[in-house]
Amino acid sequence: MASFPTVFETINDIGMPEINWLLKRTKEIKSLIKSDSLGFQTFFQTTNKIVACTFFEEHSTRTKLSFTRALQLLGAKFINFDSGTSSLKKGESLRETFLTLKAMGVNICIFRCPQSEGLSPFKHKAPFKLINAGDGMNEHPTQALLDLFTMTEENFDQLEGKTVAIVGDCLHSRVSHSLSRLLPQFGMKVLLVGPEEFLPVSEQLPGVEFCRDRDEAIKKCDLLYLLRIQTERHRRSDLLEIDSYIERYGVTLDHLKKLGREIPLYSPGPANIGVEIDEAAISSNLFVGHRQVENGVYMRMAIIEAMCSLNKENVNELPGGIRTI
Ligand code: CP
Repeated sequence: MASFPTVFETINDIGMPEINWLLKRTKEIKSLIKSDSLGFQTFFQTTNKIVACTFFEEHSTRTKLSFTRALQLLGAKFINFDSGTSSLKKGESLRETFLTLKAMGVNICIFRCPQSEGLSPFKHKAPFKLINAGDGMNEHPTQALLDLFTMTEENFDQLEGKTVAIVGDCLHSRVSHSLSRLLPQFGMKVLLVGPEEFLPVSEQLPGVEFCRDRDEAIKKCDLLYLLRIQTERHRRSDLLEIDSYIERYGVTLDHLKKLGREIPLYSPGPANIGVEIDEAAISSNLFVGHRQVENGVYMRMAIIEAMCSLNKENVNELPGGIRTI
């Protein structure tokens, strides 16, 4: 039986008991917050644990603020680390930075970096618990989990047999990589859709198929998950003609209506309006992006709780109704 890991780097670090625990706990937390009954005592209110939000050299709105909000709601003590004004700029290493944070009492670190597998060197000798908040092109496991939670509550009673078409820059998207590992575990089919230069070639995952034709994918799928073109991770900025991309892979409300498919539109954000999605589609009631953001706070509360409290012994026992930790 796997336990919740010390370093949560990839979806593969957790198994079905942990994923199901997170889904159930997220639902409980959402219901508590919606009913204005945040009177529960959290782990953080009874300990001196400190969480650091460390976002290295990469911009973020959703993930950074979502974790910050989750920590506020949990009553946690936290510090924000600004890499741009830190001693990293004087040549200090990441390891030394982590040891410095540890010496200040940090117990959990939420970590984003532009390097793929930037957490890997710490996997077996972490100075504290680490949560991957997106590492280059590798993974964004907390995003995939909040997406899964949103799918369970927003669209599907049963996930089994449903098809999710992830459209766009699948190759450079860490979200796409995490979803491709997560959703098939629930019997869902993942269709990666995009031009050849945006489709991964090396990895063949069970339950994941490739499609070059956007309209074929739209006709087949139960929901569309739209990715931004991630030029910051491209080796060349002229990989493709943007106008032809919109024409072939962008999604507009008019086009969906023409195909007779008014299906949910997911986006991890930020979205390039006018590129992968048009203003009419993002303003329509098909767009789920803002509900994903809201659920992200609850899922991240559950993940932080799990990192603090779940271990090999109790992972199967929880949850059982509303509880205090
Ligand atoms: N979804 C996501 O990771 O967004 P940010 O880059 O704004 O954090």
